Amino acid sequence: MYDLIIIGGGPAGYNASEKAAHAGLKTLVIEERALGGVCLNEGCIPTKTLLYSAKIYDYAKHSADYGVTFSGAEIDHAKVVERKEKVIKTLVGGVGAKLKKSGVEVVYAKAQIKGKNAEGFTVEADGKEYAAKKLLVCTGSDPALPPIDGLKDSLADGFAMTNRETLALKTLPKTLVVVGGGVIGLEMASYFNSVGTKVYVLEMLDHIAGPTDREISKMLQKEYEKRGVNFILGAKVTSIKGGKVSYELNGQNLAIDADKALVSIGRRARTAGIGLENLGVIMNRGAIVTDEHLRTSVPGVWAAGDVNGKIMLAHTAYREGEVAVNDMLGIKDRINYSSIPSVIYTNPEVASVGETTETAKEKGLDVEIKSVTLKLSGRYIAENEGGNGILKLIIDNKHRNIVGLHMIGNYAGEIIYGAAMMVETQMRVSDIQKLVFPHPTVSEVIREAMF
Ligand code: NAI
Repeated sequence: MYDLIIIGGGPAGYNASEKAAHAGLKTLVIEERALGGVCLNEGCIPTKTLLYSAKIYDYAKHSADYGVTFSGAEIDHAKVVERKEKVIKTLVGGVGAKLKKSGVEVVYAKAQIKGKNAEGFTVEADGKEYAAKKLLVCTGSDPALPPIDGLKDSLADGFAMTNRETLALKTLPKTLVVVGGGVIGLEMASYFNSVGTKVYVLEMLDHIAGPTDREISKMLQKEYEKRGVNFILGAKVTSIKGGKVSYELNGQNLAIDADKALVSIGRRARTAGIGLENLGVIMNRGAIVTDEHLRTSVPGVWAAGDVNGKIMLAHTAYREGEVAVNDMLGIKDRINYSSIPSVIYTNPEVASVGETTETAKEKGLDVEIKSVTLKLSGRYIAENEGGNGILKLIIDNKHRNIVGLHMIGNYAGEIIYGAAMMVETQMRVSDIQKLVFPHPTVSEVIREAMF
């Protein structure tokens, strides 16, 4: 009998298992594929590896702007992909080693929840039954694949791809249509644009980058338009087949011929086929309903990560897993979704936390919005020839505390955690004015923006 069975070894599951084992719980992780989940194997990490190669290539192409001249910069996509595999292997191996060291047991198989009895829960995996007092469901998410005409067949014949197939491409497509201008779409558009693929982004809404502050998403779009990415907004995709992506725009039927089409129109919680119905767990639109302690409707069962459909980000999953384990241990804890940062790893990066101009307005908050140029930072000017990044602050007028911070410009992704702390701890402008920021850094612009 285990104290805890965790189904799914992605960021929510593996992190929670380590924490649980350290607290003395006899813990089993059941993982169908590989430890690390989508994030390590076919999401965050492989994407960042590809994007870093693209960044080096971009710098090489523009090195003359910085007084460095050489010729013949080339990108070897096959090598980039090979390196990506190496990075994944290192990290997945690292997670495995950490779990082993912590005393977490891992079974590689598909788990099926069988039911509940007086002692706890039974789960079947690989023909064997395992029992535990508590369950943590961390089965993640799958790409959303709506019934678009031809999509199913195109996925089967390789014309259409999800993030998984896109990251595994061995050769570069000449033309790529990205369906969905959200985070996956933009990061992939960024890579393929850098390495010479002609990229089209078809987005249903009138803006890219989803909930990102609109001024910043417009700047990002402009930047990539300058580099040759073609954004088609307000487009309704009607079919994906025969090397063609068809769409409706302002009542017209149009199509783009392409070598490949990436479908990145969101993700859906992975809840089917794991036996949740045997426990009667309450769901909402396919996701497990959880509260701020990550409890489900069934006592003894928690759910963390993408599977609860709240905020599908690896770092949210880490925190949710921790909160769930703390709750099991009787340690007071809750998750605060309002101060979770997000980063889009384009070049320039976009990073955000808290209220945007739009959400502040929707909620009727009395805020002051300050927008300042990153050119206030010496380091930014030194390292970003021609860069026009900005930082936006959303200040609640009542207590003069920071309720949102948004940036476009490099290092934004590394700086945003500080802003997340400011939002989480409700820091006031007057507190931040007293902080010392290292000089010269891009982060100093936060301080500058306070005056
Ligand atoms: P997303 O929700 O970020 O974006 C999907 C986009 O597709 C939206 O802009 C939506 O309006 C559009 N769309 C939906 N249906 C469409 C249609 N039929 N035709 C055209 N456009 C359509 O989802 P995405 O990019 O697939 O990412 C999935 C998840 O992975 C997200 O939760 C995201 O936060 C996460 N992720 C996070 C990353 C990061 O933190 N850097 C990187 C990659 C993914």
